[in-house]
Amino acid sequence: KIADLKGTKQGQLRLAVITTAKYFVPRLLGSFCQHYPGIDVTLKVTNHQEIQRRMLENEDDLYIVSNPPEDIDLHNKQFLDNPLVVVAKADHPLSKQHHISIDALNAQPFIMREKGSGTRAAVLNLFAKYKVSVNVRLELGSNEAIKQAIAGGLGISVLSEHCLISEGMSGELTVLDVEHFPIKRNWYVSYLAGKKLSVIAQTFLDYLLQESPKMSFPSSSLLAQLAK
Ligand code: PGA
Repeated sequence: KIADLKGTKQGQLRLAVITTAKYFVPRLLGSFCQHYPGIDVTLKVTNHQEIQRRMLENEDDLYIVSNPPEDIDLHNKQFLDNPLVVVAKADHPLSKQHHISIDALNAQPFIMREKGSGTRAAVLNLFAKYKVSVNVRLELGSNEAIKQAIAGGLGISVLSEHCLISEGMSGELTVLDVEHFPIKRNWYVSYLAGKKLSVIAQTFLDYLLQESPKMSFPSSSLLAQLAK
């Protein structure tokens, strides 16, 4: 299949992905571009609100999101899991407990993603459902910055499990075993329904769906074990 593109050495692939997809899309692009070295790739990493705006402007070939906007006519294909977990500093008082009631999050110092973030929307949704009211200490527009703030003792947060992959912080952070978590979500690869994908975009889409299940990620329960 991949050989079909041989000869199609030039072309552009424009991708826009939500913040959590940056942990695997570049790696996938690495192997993809080895097959097709002539392709120019642009990868925009941003939040859901900005992705939605880019969709409306038809700025990219493919999008990766957790919540495909319902009011845009899209083709969406679900692929990997993208669960949200409660993340705390490893020595947090709750870190030794199991089956923590969600009520225990009440009044906890909390670091929240910015407006327009899908992570934020999912967190606020769950907190509204269970009438949890955290104490938002600060809002940050970056998962990485939130991890640093947690490590710095500013509070807890809720992040995609994929954010816990990056280098060297697994000892400083832990996942709390809170009821109703993880919040189950998936990634979708999406494109505008009215759009005819380029050969390159279609080939990357097939590659993504074929290769992503083979990628391995640490599970939060494993990280939680390691921290104990
Ligand atoms: P966000 O999306 O960057 O808009 O929060 C991330 C996600 O939903 O995984």
